[in-house]
Amino acid sequence: MPEEIILREETLDASYLPPSLPHREKELALLRERFSRAMAVGQGWSQLLTGGVGSGKTALARLLAHEIERRQGGKDREEVPRTIYVNCWRRNSDRAVILALLNEVNRPVPDRGFSVSEMMDTFEKGLRESASPTLVVLDEVSTLLKAGSSKLIYMLTRGREVGLGPLSLLLVAPQDVLPFLDAATRSSFGVTHRLHLRKYDRAQLADIVLARASLALRPGVLDRSLAEQVARVAEAQGDARLALELLGGAAHRAEERGAREISAEDVRWAKASIYPTMTEEKLEGLAPPSLLVLLALARTLKGPGTWAALEKVRKAHASACEEFGVVPGSRVSFWRLVKGLEHEGLLEMEYAHRGAPARLTQDEIPASMLELVLQERLGRSSAATG
Ligand SMILES: Nc1ncnc2c1ncn2[C@@H]1O[C@H](COP(=O)(O)OP(=O)(O)OP(=O)(O)O)[C@@H](O)[C@H]1O
Ligand SMILES: [Mg+2]
Repeated sequence: MPEEIILREETLDASYLPPSLPHREKELALLRERFSRAMAVGQGWSQLLTGGVGSGKTALARLLAHEIERRQGGKDREEVPRTIYVNCWRRNSDRAVILALLNEVNRPVPDRGFSVSEMMDTFEKGLRESASPTLVVLDEVSTLLKAGSSKLIYMLTRGREVGLGPLSLLLVAPQDVLPFLDAATRSSFGVTHRLHLRKYDRAQLADIVLARASLALRPGVLDRSLAEQVARVAEAQGDARLALELLGGAAHRAEERGAREISAEDVRWAKASIYPTMTEEKLEGLAPPSLLVLLALARTLKGPGTWAALEKVRKAHASACEEFGVVPGSRVSFWRLVKGLEHEGLLEMEYAHRGAPARLTQDEIPASMLELVLQERLGRSSAATG
């Protein structure tokens, strides 16, 4: 019986909220500070949080809400801050969002028969039931705003004036939504009320993958070079969700094949099943000498490791040329073919530096699958010319 790879399946789920967010500690501390300070003196704070896909906006907002509830609570039950999280995705009207808010304060009303202002009154009553300061998080708020100007958001930012008491508001959106707000609401979102999450870079994504692996997997089944391989794939988008999806996919595949640990090939399988980008179309345009370089790379990558040394690939290329009756050419012409493929995005190269030799890789497709596709294609072309 092979040992398990995955120990805590639920921690690989997209909806799982980890206890900490590597590389978002500063942002979390900053937001906690801003909200807590305002709440402590009986005031509200309005904040806009933006960032690209998978940049951790939702996770950060949820962790913040969690910490605010936990931190200030304790002494006086009445004072324990309350947080309300609503995802506006598909709730693209004030009405739909306020219905969700009413459910959260235990004042559900039927979908029909009440105006938005009547429902706001009911929400106010719900809030007044306790003296707790309240934070409302509206995630994916751009769907709401793009559907038209929002009176609801205006009212939420002006909690005190409209009788809602000291209400705090966190708006979460992929891009700047201020242009969609009216001037009065926009004035609540000055510079210190905006925070943009930058894309994660490769090293940060690798840290996130390793941190999640330590929660989800048996110790030692994923080494740093694999975390870096995953990070490389997700780097263009800077998307932590994609990185974690790859981690989960690779872990499952390793488990299915009864392996003791995750391999580079498992990561490529995960990549190919999520994002099949190495299309037959791309190979279509390549002449046999280039196809042979990819074949040599595929064969070298089938071994252990996430990279193949350039020199090893060159040797594999020479024997593959022989196998298919193609003249191998010089070192310089091999180098040119490699550069051409790099340019096409069909392989990645890391140049020699500080004594480390140059090396190649590709993560588009499992090496074993690439080998089969190429052998078939080369077989056909040599049959046609031979
Ligand atoms: N710094 C981090 N550390 C650990 N996990 C993270 C981190 N950032 C994001 N994640 C995880 O990556 C996934 C995507 O993050 P999240 O849902 O917060 O992204 P998002 O910015 O809301 O993306 P979208 O715009 O698509 O809604 C989640 O599973 C989240 O837990
Ligand atoms: Mg989100």
